[in-house]
Amino acid sequence: MERTRWYKDAVFYQIWPRSFCDGNGDGIGDLWGVLGKLDYIASLGVTGIWFSPLYPSPQADFGYDIADYYDINPEYGTLDVFRQVLEGAHERGLRVIMDLVVNHTSDECAWFVQSRSSRDNRYADWYVWRDGRTPGAPEAGGTPPNNWDSLFEGDAWEYEPARDQWYLHIFAKKQPDLNMDNPEVRAEVERIMRFWLEMGVDGFREDVITYISKDPALPDDNPLKPAARGMRFYDHGPRVHEYLRQFRHNVLDAYDCMTVGEAPMISAQKALEYCAEGPEQELDMMFTFEHMGADCVVTDWIPRPFDLRAYKRALGRWQTGLAQDAWNSLYLENHDHPRIISRYGSERYRVESGKSLACSYLFLRGTPFVYQGQEIGMTNTYLTRVEDSADVSTFNQVARLRKMGVPEAACLRLANRATRDHARTPMQWSAEPGAGFVGGDGTAQPWFPINTNYRQINVAAAEEDPDSLLAFYREAIALRRRLPVVREGSYRELKQASAQLYAHVREGVGQKLLVVCSFTGRTAYFSAPGDLPLAEAELCLCGYEDAPTEGNAFFLRPYECRVYLWQEV
Ligand code: GLC
Ligand code: CA
Repeated sequence: MERTRWYKDAVFYQIWPRSFCDGNGDGIGDLWGVLGKLDYIASLGVTGIWFSPLYPSPQADFGYDIADYYDINPEYGTLDVFRQVLEGAHERGLRVIMDLVVNHTSDECAWFVQSRSSRDNRYADWYVWRDGRTPGAPEAGGTPPNNWDSLFEGDAWEYEPARDQWYLHIFAKKQPDLNMDNPEVRAEVERIMRFWLEMGVDGFREDVITYISKDPALPDDNPLKPAARGMRFYDHGPRVHEYLRQFRHNVLDAYDCMTVGEAPMISAQKALEYCAEGPEQELDMMFTFEHMGADCVVTDWIPRPFDLRAYKRALGRWQTGLAQDAWNSLYLENHDHPRIISRYGSERYRVESGKSLACSYLFLRGTPFVYQGQEIGMTNTYLTRVEDSADVSTFNQVARLRKMGVPEAACLRLANRATRDHARTPMQWSAEPGAGFVGGDGTAQPWFPINTNYRQINVAAAEEDPDSLLAFYREAIALRRRLPVVREGSYRELKQASAQLYAHVREGVGQKLLVVCSFTGRTAYFSAPGDLPLAEAELCLCGYEDAPTEGNAFFLRPYECRVYLWQEV
């Protein structure tokens, strides 16, 4: 099958199903809700949808704990409804990619239920089982096989009396890691891929895919490491490339599909090992976290405060690091990060900073992803008690902080900085009660509290306002899609040292594009170099109504952004 690499012209919209739209009135987002919003999604100008997991799941990690890879969570619909969504999406020119979570399953997955029941059943070796270092149950003094931490819930090991053994869970206890070294497990992964590709889906987002191969010795890590002990023995593990090539050669190569891998702590250099184009290419692109201010030092996951220069350096490293050898993915938000306006922009200049942030990534080389609600500028929520969180990783971080003696008020503050709840509040469709999210007669309690700002910030209000962030996203996406330089051009940064502005130039195929974004609530000044004569350029996009210049320069109002184009150069 010839690979057309259609994804290079794609723009994706990510749906986190539980909070997108409730069609049947039980307060939980679902596929009936999605069906009613396909026109809206298409109206953004995007060309694809990534669905966070839709599969049956006990929802310990909201679908990232899969109980059945071949079905749809009954709360969300049925395979038939999914087929309708797929067909409706395809009719509108939207591709659909699924989340593929194969580092681990749910502990309620039938394979694990069997696996844990004895040492000699059909699935006995499908998970990572080991004897304890000291035998016996933990209550009787038994100790786990090594000193690794899980990322979501205490130690990385859980004891199973029926086997008198421990299973590995890099995430929560309810997310046992699969044993990818077992060829039967890999064959099953191939089956899962084929099942969805045969149904017509267009590819996969592959969850924590760089974790799937563990160092078989499972050695102890440095005991003094404060968190994420063990990671160096399973991230980019010894056989990860072999396995990904197997999946590509045995399955993916037979379809004109795309894959994007999630890799929590990867550098551009390392990403080339997975994504460089050529016969050995494993994945089409990677989701990096480098520009997200991730910090793995104190606990697993407290994001650092925003630093524009660090943001620019990270984006630049990936733009120039992958250059023509591999393809980037571009995103600012997803279901794992707080809202970007609250983090990197300004809630006071919500619309302006939302526009500037959009501009700062939508014209880079790569495939952009827009997360539900990002396009209307949804902002963070606020937890008044840690216990109000619905996020297993937040509880884990707070438990660690408490153990370290961090005072309760600080725990709450850090939880509010990091929690994934921010991205998971229900989508704000209108100012009606239930925010237009709750379906049916609209009276059900939404599964998670709606952000109280929904009366001001919602899709219906944005549709009425020609200067809304929503209108800007539509314009920016349309512009990106009609300019070949965005796909083909080189990347060069201007004013690299500026702590106020992010300015970059894309150049190629007879076009030059200048993107200038302000990240300050004060006035900033930008003077264009001589080879970019503003008087000869077309102003394609501006965050404000007008765009005055002075000579070959201009002042930027709070969080202003502009995009200039030169043709036939
Ligand atoms: C990925 C997902 C996240 C999930 C984790 C474990 O990071 O994006 O939501 O909790 O993997 O599956
Ligand atoms: Ca529902």
